[in-house]
Parts: sequence; C-alpha cells; structure tokens
Amino acid sequence: MTDDVSLAPPAIETVGLTKRFGSHTAVDGIGLTVPRGSVFGFLGPNGSGKTTTIRMLLGLAGASAGEIRVLGEEMPRKVADVLPRVGALVEGPAFYPFLSGAANLARLDSANRHASSRTRQDRVALSLERVGLSHAARKRVKAYSLGMKQRLGLANALLTPRELLVLDEPTNGLDPQGTREVRNLIRSLASGGTTVFVSSHLLAEIDQICTHAAIMSNGALVAQGTLDELRRAGSPRVEVRTPDPGATRRVLAALGLEVDTGAPDAGPVDSEGTDARDALIAAHADPAVAPEEIVAALVGAGVRIRGFSVMSASLEERFVALTGEGFDVAE
Ligand SMILES: Nc1ncnc2c1ncn2[C@@H]1O[C@H](COP(=O)(O)OP(=O)(O)OP(=O)(O)O)[C@@H](O)[C@H]1O
Ligand SMILES: [Mg+2]
Repeated sequence: MTDDVSLAPPAIETVGLTKRFGSHTAVDGIGLTVPRGSVFGFLGPNGSGKTTTIRMLLGLAGASAGEIRVLGEEMPRKVADVLPRVGALVEGPAFYPFLSGAANLARLDSANRHASSRTRQDRVALSLERVGLSHAARKRVKAYSLGMKQRLGLANALLTPRELLVLDEPTNGLDPQGTREVRNLIRSLASGGTTVFVSSHLLAEIDQICTHAAIMSNGALVAQGTLDELRRAGSPRVEVRTPDPGATRRVLAALGLEVDTGAPDAGPVDSEGTDARDALIAAHADPAVAPEEIVAALVGAGVRIRGFSVMSASLEERFVALTGEGFDVAE
C-alpha cells in the first residue's frame, strides 16, 4: 500500500460488468471508476441494479461478463486477499437472533484471520460505540429494531480498519437522527482516508456527503463523475423577473433559448409597477450565450428587468432527466 493516493489504482474499477438473470439483464455492461479517497454515491431507482452490482464487486455473485478490480486486484480471483481490506454492509447481514449484538460481532470478528483474539472485545466495544449501539450491546439481536440491526451491520463493517467500505443502503430503516449519525460516521471515516462506496435512494444524503456519484437506470450506468461535474452536465436555467413578459419571451427565443411555458405570466402591471405583478420568465440556458449577452439584449429591447438569475441544475433535476423517475428526497 502506498500513501500517495494519486499513484494507487482506483478503489473500484469495472469494465463491461454485466449480470443476466435468464433473459433479464440486471446490470448491463457498466464501467465504474471509484477513485481512492472518494465518498462515492451509487444512485438509482428501485430495481436499477445497485445491489446486484455490489454483490458482484464483493464476490458474492458471479458476473455474466466483464471485469472487476477492487483495490487494484482482480475479482473474484483475488477475493481472499481483497476481502480483509474491505468492510461491507449488504442487504440483510446474517446475525444469530438469540445472541447479543456484542456476541454476534465477536463471532464475526473471530472469522477474520487477521484480527487478534486478544483485542477482540475492545474492537467489538469500539465499533458498537461508533454506531451508537453500546447501550444495546448485551441485548439479543431478536429484540433489535430494523434500525438497530442496520447499525449492527455497520458495526461489523467497522470492526477492523479498512481501505474501502462498501455500504448498500446503510440508512435503510434508520430514523432521521440515525440517518444523520450514519452520515457523520461516513464523513469521519472518509476524513481518515477510507474510500466509501455507498448506495442510496436518498439524494439529500448523496448531495451532502459524497464527492462523486454514479447514476444507474435500468441496469445501465447513465452518468458518473464528481458532484460538480454531474451538476454542470445539466443545463442551467435563466430566470428574468419583469413586468414585460411578452417582450422577454421574444428576446430569449431570438437568442435561441428554450423558454419554459409552464408558469403562467403575471397579469398586466399597473402604472406603479408593483413587484407582485411582475412575471417570472424561465428558460434553459445555452452555454453559448453568456448571461451578460442576455441582459444586454433584454435592455436593448426595452425590457424592464427587476431580477435576473442563472441557476445550475440541481442534482435532483439531473437524476430525473437521466432516469425519467422521481427521487425519494425525504429522510
Ligand atoms: N437473484 C435474482 N434473480 C432474478 N432476478 C434478480 C435477482 N436479483 C435481482 N434481480 C433483478 O435484477 C434487477 C436489479 O435488482 P437490484 O436488487 O440489483 O436493484 P437495486 O437497484 O438494488 O434496487 P433497490 O433500490 O430496490 O434495492 C431487478 O429487476 C431484480 O428483480
Ligand atoms: Mg438494492
């Protein structure tokens, strides 16, 4: 392992990764690149292929075609070398219901050849504390809520320090407070140098903690990059607040901008020109037309401009445009 992140191979790299279930292609030739040190959001609607991809990355399911490298090693050929370096939380971790949370973790830890049994209890206590489960350490897992089980799954992924964490929907079943705690935990792990690959439906989550993201739709990878790149790829919008909606539309259209027809214009403005009666005209911006050109053209046409703004597309708009689906933005 090298300290120089730029020299290290990507944490995850796939080429043409494909999974077919009978005639259904669940993952369709995807090429993922997850840089070292990133917090990488793996986004997509239900059934888009996130969990299937993650299972292949971890060697839990075989690929129908394609190549996978995790931490520079070929998978699944090097699975025994790679897995000790990777902490994972995938749908439904298997716990013994009649054992306590702490006893379950101790069992899982004992399966790790690289973890010393002498320090096992300390590791278990520390990871339970990190996920906020110390109070329930001695409780049987069958009495855990879904959120507590999810935390225990996370604690398992954190038992020993890892270079890469792969978390499939880590906030599933958590309340807003738990969701915030997991977010903070991911931030603190990332600041310690761990690469985190995290799948989610919750756009707010990805927006707040991730440096990079990839978007899946129907088994295909439709976009990936830094969050800024993903936002930039969406066309920004221009908004003009004006008492002269007709002239504004004409000027914007003449500049080649696509004017939104959705919002009705405000009624005619009285002689005082009160703000409440101004219209808000929105258009998709064109990178070839600079904002100052738009303003100059409007002024040239005698349009009274009371407000002008250029807004970049939100990640949510981008997601909807790419997948044709809404996003569950609630926590
Ligand atoms: N073992 C399986 N046998 C047959 N089809 C499967 C199997 N596992 C997954 N699929 C199908 O593959 C597609 C992708 O499923 P997957 O679980 O990867 O989606 P996901 O993005 O994780 O969805 P969710 O957000 O609901 O967790 C779905 O159409 C699903 O029905
Ligand atoms: Mg899933």
